[in-house]
Amino acid sequence: MKNIILIGLMGVGKGSVAREIVKKSRFVGLDTDDIIESMENRRIKKIFAEEGEEYFRLLERKVARWLRKNVEGTLISTGGGFFKVPNIKKIGTVVLLNASFETIYNRIVEHDNAHKKLRKRPLFQDVERARALYEERLPQYLKVADIVIDVEGKDIPKIANEILKKVK
Ligand code: S3P
Repeated sequence: MKNIILIGLMGVGKGSVAREIVKKSRFVGLDTDDIIESMENRRIKKIFAEEGEEYFRLLERKVARWLRKNVEGTLISTGGGFFKVPNIKKIGTVVLLNASFETIYNRIVEHDNAHKKLRKRPLFQDVERARALYEERLPQYLKVADIVIDVEGKDIPKIANEILKKVK
């Protein structure tokens, strides 16, 4: 069984969709940010603050090589920049969760835990910079994706079902 890799901007719902897919299928889930946090025994925010972004990207590439060699049949959710690892297409079927920047932003700020959600994301500290990142990445996300799922106005179970139907 091939892996499914969820990509997309922070806040688009990769984690929630991943948990829903795992709940209703035979897939086991892994999250690249969680793997990195447990390898380092510190939060992403701390890794960025103490080592810088380039070190974090190095860890992402290390995790990508490990996934490629050792993991199959798994639903892999990723940090928003993970799609840039050079071997992403070899890890599995790449599924992009796509929405407008406004939807993504509102999803984060309207969340009960908005403060925490924003605080843990070093690249989302400034709205205009986050918007610029979205605009820069959108064409890159589309290029790397095997499947694009428009998540606008859909609830999590519907998105999960759509993905499971498409990867069968
Ligand atoms: C990042 C997204 C984050 C995390 C790190 C960098 C990015 O993950 O990997 O802060 O480059 O977009 P989420 O997409 O889960 O927020």
